[in-house]
Amino acid sequence: MKLDVLLGLQWGDEGKGKVVDFLTPHYDVITRFQGGPNAGHSLEFNGIKHVLHTIPSGIFHPEKINIIGNGVVIDPIIFKTEIEKLKARNTVLNNLYISRKAHLILPTHRLLDAASEAAKGKSKIGSTLKGIGPTYMDKTGRNGLRVGDIFTNDFKTRYNNLLNKHLNLLKQYDFQVEYAKEEQEWFAAIDLLKTFTVIDSEYSINQYLKEGKSILAEGAQGTMLDIDFGSYPFVTSSNTVCAGACTGLGVAPGTIGQVFGIVKAYCTRVGSGPFPTELLDETGELLRKNGNEFGSTTGRPRRCGWLDLPALKYSIMINGVTALIMTKADVLSGFSTVKVCTHYKINGELTDRIPFDVNAEITPVYKEMKGWSDNISNDLSYDTLPAELKEYVAFIEQETGVPFKIISVSPDREKTIIR
Ligand code: GDP
Ligand code: IMO
Ligand code: MG
Repeated sequence: MKLDVLLGLQWGDEGKGKVVDFLTPHYDVITRFQGGPNAGHSLEFNGIKHVLHTIPSGIFHPEKINIIGNGVVIDPIIFKTEIEKLKARNTVLNNLYISRKAHLILPTHRLLDAASEAAKGKSKIGSTLKGIGPTYMDKTGRNGLRVGDIFTNDFKTRYNNLLNKHLNLLKQYDFQVEYAKEEQEWFAAIDLLKTFTVIDSEYSINQYLKEGKSILAEGAQGTMLDIDFGSYPFVTSSNTVCAGACTGLGVAPGTIGQVFGIVKAYCTRVGSGPFPTELLDETGELLRKNGNEFGSTTGRPRRCGWLDLPALKYSIMINGVTALIMTKADVLSGFSTVKVCTHYKINGELTDRIPFDVNAEITPVYKEMKGWSDNISNDLSYDTLPAELKEYVAFIEQETGVPFKIISVSPDREKTIIR
């Protein structure tokens, strides 16, 4: 049995939550392998919208196992809020397991995130301020606290040691420090965390594979936010790419089966950093309005623009994508023409490569295609989709060499076309 991976090929918010929930019936186990509560994964069914931050998007299928893998960073306070919301909606939670090796976000990690951003001034990353960067820094700096540590007798001492390190750092930033209330909440949330099944997830996952169980690994963020391959430094602090599933779950590369790459029919980005096809005009405004492009985690308006093929081809290459999934095709309905960026012009030269320099002045070169006006939000068959949309899909397939297997036309679970 193989482990399939589903990940975002743009700058996040491609609709991973919706599609993972849709695909969950085909799997036995759903896992998150990186990121943390910087993620906001929305899904909708029976007219109710759910937003998940740390918990895998398979959680609404009570017969499936959901695992928070070792590569994830967990904020116990946010986790507790998520759990309370799920409980209020009668969600079955005894199938949720947490890796002993997942790292913990402390209240002071969040303060450090804010202090670091404030110190960067104009060149800030636009972080979600959830403490992600500082937590991964402590992980690689060999200072971090992990879920397994909460069961040890000297946990409080180890917490205090790390806290003191953080307070020293915050002094250097000359940053207003207020954490007493949060600390109390944090320890209360740790008590809740203790009531969950904490596992050696690498053993469990490999055992499931041996038993022939099928696993879907749910990516967070997107390839263009990857710490190595994204638009550094305007990225997140984890490997969002397919390889991240190996380190974030403890599975060998050979166990990876399908790699599903999710693409929004256009592009969005929250936070700072290069966005070659960004539309700062009324067309961008219309995409934001029609697509309801406001962050699931921070509520910030998302920057919007046309589809970027150089970035898409790059993401497909890095991840070894075997099948594409398009979301929000419905949002493009009503545009008389739609554009796809095929190349960048940098210093007068045409290229379809992503430049090293994030400050490079890029002029996108577009192919303009005929738009469509039909409302497709209730379409359930590929055959009945407008011819112009099918041409758009075919053009991307031809350029990337990868087929689209799913087209999503609405936030609702049911409104998903399989080809
Ligand atoms: P994720 O982070 O990749 O899970 O994506 P988000 O949940 O942050 O953002 C995607 C948004 O688009 C959510 O509000 C979804 O409910 C919504 N969405 C997902 N698929 C579709 C679709 O096909 N059409 C429309 N109109 N909205 C969608
Ligand atoms: P999902 O999983 C979109 C962005 C932030 C910021 C940068 C670094 O919902 O697709 P961080 O808090 O990680 O230090 O922020 O990355 N970012 C996301 N953008 N979707 C996400 O997650 C994101 N997670 C982080 O806006 O630019
Ligand atoms: Mg999101």
